[in-house]
Amino acid sequence: MAARKLFLGIDVSTTGAKALLIDAEGAVVVSASTALVVSTPRPLWSEQDPHDWWEGTVASIRRALAEADATGADVCAVGLTGQMHGLTLLDQENRVLRPAILWNDQRTGEECREITERFGFERLLALTGNKALTGFTAPKILWVRKHEPEVYARVAHILLPKDYVRFRMTAGYAVDKADGAGMLLFDLKRRTWAPELLDALEIPTAWLPTPYEGPEITGEVTAEAAAITGLRVGTPVVAGGGDQAAGAVGAGAVAPGIVSLALGTSGVVFATTAEPYIEPEGRLHSFCHSVPGMWHLMGVMLSAAGSLRWYRDTLAPGIAYDDVVAPAAAVPVGAEGLLFLPYLTGERTPHPDPLARGAFVGLTVRHTQAHMTRAVLEGVAFGLRDSMELIRSAGPIAQVRVAGGGARSALWRQILADVLNVELVTVNTTEGAAYGAALLAGVGAGQWASVAESCTATVRPVERTAPNAVNVPVYERAYAQYRALYPALKPVFHAIGEAEA
Ligand code: XUL
Repeated sequence: MAARKLFLGIDVSTTGAKALLIDAEGAVVVSASTALVVSTPRPLWSEQDPHDWWEGTVASIRRALAEADATGADVCAVGLTGQMHGLTLLDQENRVLRPAILWNDQRTGEECREITERFGFERLLALTGNKALTGFTAPKILWVRKHEPEVYARVAHILLPKDYVRFRMTAGYAVDKADGAGMLLFDLKRRTWAPELLDALEIPTAWLPTPYEGPEITGEVTAEAAAITGLRVGTPVVAGGGDQAAGAVGAGAVAPGIVSLALGTSGVVFATTAEPYIEPEGRLHSFCHSVPGMWHLMGVMLSAAGSLRWYRDTLAPGIAYDDVVAPAAAVPVGAEGLLFLPYLTGERTPHPDPLARGAFVGLTVRHTQAHMTRAVLEGVAFGLRDSMELIRSAGPIAQVRVAGGGARSALWRQILADVLNVELVTVNTTEGAAYGAALLAGVGAGQWASVAESCTATVRPVERTAPNAVNVPVYERAYAQYRALYPALKPVFHAIGEAEA
């Protein structure tokens, strides 16, 4: 039988390792996922074992091939995506030195201050496009140097999560430029490592992987990886992208003006720019895009759909999301004065504060559980509006494309459209970053001439949610109250954080 023409996207996310096969028209053939666990050995810590990423990826690839009734010979190219910023350390023999420190780990407040002092706030922002945040990779490297000197002494290679999987697949040390820019060691404009910053932080450049544009081929599947995964020896593996940039490709958000809003565990408002744009106070992240020669801005809220998951698991355990959310539709807009602050795992945009906490504010005896549910949905929408306001200041928005698990709720989409006062569009592609990685593989293998062409060929709007003119002013008032909460509660959050420490 003649080989089929399939492209494989692999997403090493925080919650699972996914393998997605698409065909040459961009249709999804199969998606297989293997769950991953996060460990929190101490407050503010978040870690994962890199071996689990590889084992989960292997299991998902094997299942995807079996369910698609395909062989390795049918897969033309592989694209990788995954959770960003996670620090993976290998020794000279490529052994993993310690659990990876993840994007949502908050232990490095001190190291962020050290980086800012050593290099200078203005210089750091102008060079990397970003200020030092606990989630990024560079402060994690400094943390290991300070707290685990015996581990640091053995470091030979630094990789991001999906690039550890790439290493196991191809035996090469490579990274895409979108994810590379999220390490806080990148020269944003030149799209490569920043030697002056590496020198100032005393981190050897030789430890870092080689940066590539998203669709560029970084290596080929080795004989050993082929035997384990079922892929063909020599299958090209393209750079791919950090999950946010690849997710934007998967939603067709690859041109200025098309903003994507991802409502996953984290909530992300993402805009493509033709030039690097740096928000004057560094409140937005500014990274390279998976589209060669393009950049992107994003605001990241750490607990978006993650807030609803916490709420469901804690206050309505075992109940399906649809059943938890449905009663909130009958609650008046604004939840009769009940506000929810979604900083359950600290926050990044617009308040980069690992000690920020969640809160329900304004409870009265009139409020029911349905009010609390609605307040959670609204609080997340207000948090995303904080990022949207900053994105608006960077340039005009023609369309907002919404994706992610939370976007499946029609009620949450309506709340978002009303709070943001913008029309939201859902698209036909719902496999997110893995789909973007598969498209990048297709571009790398010559199936499409460019990333933009791959999106035009495959991504279409399917449903629109317009803002409700009656609700918009109600939310305008509630948003003003929400904006006042963080400054008012910050001293309390910090007092609690210090007492707990
Ligand atoms: C982006 C970020 C998160 C993770 C989640 O800056 O930290 O979106 O990539 O997977």
